Amino acid sequence: MNITVCFDKLDPAPWVQALQAALPQAQVSAWTPGAAQAELAIVWAPPQQFIDEQPGLQALFNIGAGVDALLKLRLPAGLKVVRLDDAGMSVQMAEYVCHAVIRHFREFDGYAADTLMGKWSYRKPRSRADFAVGVMGLGVLGERVAQALRVFEFPVNGYSRSPKHIEGVRSFAGADQLCDFLQASRILVNLIPLTPETEDLLNRATLSQLQRGGYLINVARGRHLVDEDLIALIDEGHLAGATLDVFRTEPLPPDHSFWRHPKITVTPHTSARTLREESIAQIVGKILALQRGEPIRGVVDPQRGY
Ligand SMILES: NC(=O)c1ccc[n+]([C@@H]2O[C@H](COP(=O)([O-])OP(=O)(O)OC[C@H]3O[C@@H](n4cnc5c(N)ncnc54)[C@H](OP(=O)(O)O)[C@@H]3O)[C@@H](O)[C@H]2O)c1
Repeated sequence: MNITVCFDKLDPAPWVQALQAALPQAQVSAWTPGAAQAELAIVWAPPQQFIDEQPGLQALFNIGAGVDALLKLRLPAGLKVVRLDDAGMSVQMAEYVCHAVIRHFREFDGYAADTLMGKWSYRKPRSRADFAVGVMGLGVLGERVAQALRVFEFPVNGYSRSPKHIEGVRSFAGADQLCDFLQASRILVNLIPLTPETEDLLNRATLSQLQRGGYLINVARGRHLVDEDLIALIDEGHLAGATLDVFRTEPLPPDHSFWRHPKITVTPHTSARTLREESIAQIVGKILALQRGEPIRGVVDPQRGY
């Protein structure tokens, strides 16, 4: 069995070495144009040329949870696309989101500004009942985030395509319930996949449904958000601010107003990083399961787009 590794802007060498060690019966190599045909591929944002030159591929293993970039390519019908499911990402996402929610709720930025000026300040405690968090997307990452927020006793709402039963989480499902979900939430955490259906979903019409003083945490994809609508809603006072980890263009261009907006916190797409060891262990497990003819988790449905 030939396995090829094709990454954009990421050194494939340590992956090739670790995959080869875990699968000694296979031939693992980094792809270069004109390389031999492979049956399986481990990929991150491969070029169309890679897909066109490898018609013998049976499965593509994406080293991330989101497959939006991959599904934009012309892929042969029947080619299995497999995403990472969790592989150490959900705990990182739970840390990031809880940190952002608590930092906002407890006004830690305000305290930090005061202490910089040597000021011993006091703020009136806020009621967490007034800070319901809406988690948009209750998949592998969203469910873990919702559960982590419950530990801090925030009221938690969840939104997905199909209804969910997660203890302590009020479930809203389908486009018909989107408005009710937003109106019931003050902090919105975006964790849905980017698909044609969800592109630009965070816009003036939807974000203005959040309770007054609303706050956005976008950790899914930059193309979910209409940037100007967010800035306008913050400047008009309807939203209190945002923490953004993902952007339409990455790296975020130096002249983008998000960098300097006093109520927006920017992080460089770092909320849940791919962990090499965990990811390789998961991918190897799935390759061996496929060889035994067993079903695997994380196979993308091209119709749904995730
Ligand atoms: N910033 C980062 O570092 C980072 C890292 C990893 C992932 N991500 C992003 O996080 C996203 C989520 O990852 P995941 O592993 O949790 O995905 P997942 O397991 O596929 O879960 C997706 C969730 O979104 C829901 N959903 C999909 N389309 C919807 C729609 N049109 N309306 C309402 N709900 C919809 C699904 O509903 P059903 O359950 O009903 O199908 C599901 O609950 C990824 O796609 C990726 O873009 C970001």
